[in-house]
Amino acid sequence: MNSQVRKVNGFHLATLALLCTAFTPPAWALITRKGQEMRENRMRVNKWTGLAAALGLLSAASTPLWAETGAGLGNGIATANSPHNFATGSVGGIINDSGEICRVCHVPHDHARQRYLNGLLWNHEVSSQSYSMYSNTWSKTLTGTQSAQPDGHSKLCLGCHDGTVAMDTFDKYVGDGSNTMRNLHGLSIIGWFTDGANIDLRGTHPISIAFPAGETGDGKNFTDPTTATWSRGQTVAATLDNGKVQCSTCHDVHDQESVPGTHLLRTAQTTVEGGVPSGLCLTCHVK
Ligand code: HEC
Ligand code: HEC
Ligand code: HEC
Ligand code: HEC
Repeated sequence: MNSQVRKVNGFHLATLALLCTAFTPPAWALITRKGQEMRENRMRVNKWTGLAAALGLLSAASTPLWAETGAGLGNGIATANSPHNFATGSVGGIINDSGEICRVCHVPHDHARQRYLNGLLWNHEVSSQSYSMYSNTWSKTLTGTQSAQPDGHSKLCLGCHDGTVAMDTFDKYVGDGSNTMRNLHGLSIIGWFTDGANIDLRGTHPISIAFPAGETGDGKNFTDPTTATWSRGQTVAATLDNGKVQCSTCHDVHDQESVPGTHLLRTAQTTVEGGVPSGLCLTCHVK
């Protein structure tokens, strides 16, 4: 099975270049790299799902063919090619010699760096940056209580996803300064832009924020998080962190409760992904 998957993926990569060349209009050169990547991802999913189905490969390959785009697979982090499985893969090959999956982020015994103080037996360096948060000076209608800086689970994600920390800085290792997400995987950076000395999160959905008091439930602006559920059945409340919306509320880092083929999202955003348009947003917002 494994060699079959590898063969499929090898075929995928070789032919992808041709497909991209054939279907890429020149105007793409003018749009952002991020937009281009999203289009490429979509194209990979459509072309490859279609092609694989035509060749009868979907049932033969245990790993969906869009695995290499970084999209979630929904079967758990131990699945090969799951975005945060750094035991193998192109990013894992650079940042992780340990051969383990969990160790990049968690460790059973601290290695004298005291990263456990971030909770969850955390083993990865966190960022020392300060951030401009989405805030009341930015929006007059924002009323939920928000932390002054990202905290809880969001702080853990930003230890890689703000692009400033070398991703191989875990365990006792002091990482190679060039192995930041900015250098290795720039398309996954959150808050790429800076506001003076701060990393600017004003263009990111509010994080480390509670639901506004008195605004949840019937006839209110927000659904009740204790009864609203994500696609895979968890309640929204179960994915809050100290009652707050964090990165991990919308995304499942372990790729276990995420919708396959999405950016590790807990509910699909489109019909193509198997959901309803903006289904993720409408899980919380009554609009
Ligand atoms: C140890 C570093 C690290 C940590 C910590 C981390 N990530 Fe990631 N994440 C990555 C890397 C590297 C990738 C890109 C993997 C790939 O595509 O090969 C990634 C990919 C992703 C993707 C998929 C991107 C896409 O294009 O579909 C999402 C979503 C994501 N991470 C969200 C999170 C969230 C949310 C957290 C915290 C709950 C988190 N990550 C914690 C390193 C990290
Ligand atoms: C890329 C970083 C990353 C990797 C790799 C990772 N985790 Fe996590 N883990 C997190 C983050 C961030 C949280 C907090 C957010 C959450 O729970 O959604 C977390 C939370 C947890 C929790 C507590 C909450 C829960 O979901 O039960 C456990 C237990 C856990 N991880 C176990 C593991 C194990 C076991 C592995 C390896 C098979 C692993 N993790 C790999 C980042 C990671
Ligand atoms: C887990 C629940 C949840 C999900 C999912 C969610 N939001 Fe939010 N959203 C919130 C909360 C809580 C706030 C803070 C509201 C406040 O404090 O007034 C917020 C704030 C916002 C704001 C700022 C409102 C203001 O007053 O400035 C916008 C805009 C927004 N969300 C749009 C979206 C969109 C678009 C999506 C889907 C991509 C989405 N949200 C998904 C819970 C959620
Ligand atoms: C309210 C829900 C929500 C929250 C909170 C949220 N995201 Fe996302 N994220 C999304 C959606 C939806 C996408 C899909 C791409 C898009 O719509 O732009 C996405 C895309 C991504 C991607 C893929 C690359 C990209 O930019 O398209 C990464 C990586 C990511 N998020 C990481 C994070 C991190 C890290 C945090 C916390 C700092 C976070 N997200 C907070 C909803 C959320």
